Amino acid sequence: MKLVFYGAGNMAQAIFKGIIDSKTLNSNDIYLTNKSNEERLKQFAEELGVEYSYDDEALLKDADYVFLGTKPYDFEEVAKRIQPHITDDNRFISIMAGLPINYIHEQLQVTNPIARIMPNTNAQVGHSVTGISFSGNFGPKSKDEVIELVNAFGSVIEVDEDHLHQVTAITGSGPAFLYHVFEQYVKAGTELGLEKGQVEESIKNLIIGTSKMIERSDLSMEQLRKNITSKGGTTQAGLDALAQHDIKGIFEDCLNAAVERSMELSKNENN
Ligand SMILES: NC(=O)c1ccc[n+]([C@@H]2O[C@H](COP(=O)([O-])OP(=O)(O)OC[C@H]3O[C@@H](n4cnc5c(N)ncnc54)[C@H](OP(=O)(O)O)[C@@H]3O)[C@@H](O)[C@H]2O)c1
Repeated sequence: MKLVFYGAGNMAQAIFKGIIDSKTLNSNDIYLTNKSNEERLKQFAEELGVEYSYDDEALLKDADYVFLGTKPYDFEEVAKRIQPHITDDNRFISIMAGLPINYIHEQLQVTNPIARIMPNTNAQVGHSVTGISFSGNFGPKSKDEVIELVNAFGSVIEVDEDHLHQVTAITGSGPAFLYHVFEQYVKAGTELGLEKGQVEESIKNLIIGTSKMIERSDLSMEQLRKNITSKGGTTQAGLDALAQHDIKGIFEDCLNAAVERSMELSKNENN
């Protein structure tokens, strides 16, 4: 299988490194190009054994999948660059936030199959949660191939294209929301009088340990919580204090704001 990446930035490299590390493909099946930073491409070729080129005709020839991995505002330029060389065999995978499939078709002036994926930054550690939606003409075998590629850097949920806004909010922006919650937890913990570095290190390990419990246990998060909450104990006292605040409401506001913004950005990009 031949995979070509237009754009070798932060997100694209998390994806192709994940594909190589998981041995989903050999590194010499992967071709990179970017705008002008040839030094960066040379480095990837030396470190990972991938190919790179600025010859669009050669890149697109026999390419099974073409990742569109630039910033959305650079896409028009990319589309102009590749449009004359697109072949019927090329299927596209866009990681560009907010650009609808019909807009990508319009810019490329073709109707080749397109998948849109919305990964998150945890792709860097092989744990992205990636939303995916496919154009109607994506065949079942190709869908399976794309899902296997995406599984190389985490897990996948398939949704209608309209629901990518919700995926963007819940898991795309999700790491930042959780970082923010953890930051507040550290601040509050530090105010209890322990040394800041100690608290930060302890909470880091608390988060890692709790995540591993969620990963390894068959129990729901609710049950895991109940299992460590004795009536009248310290955990119960803390949870009672939390229950005085509308925590669900806070997250509803947060997620609704992110969904709304994703919709706005998508309209702007598309105009
Ligand atoms: N970062 C995230 O957490 C995240 C999450 C979900 C989705 N995304 C999406 O991922 C996409 C990329 O974001 P990023 O943070 O990885 O960007 P980035 O690090 O800025 O990388 C952009 C890449 O695009 C290349 N490029 C620009 N114009 C080009 C052109 N005309 N032809 C070929 N390549 C071109 C750049 O090449 P040069 O280096 O040569 O300029 C660079 O390799 C965005 O659309 C974003 O919406 C990102």
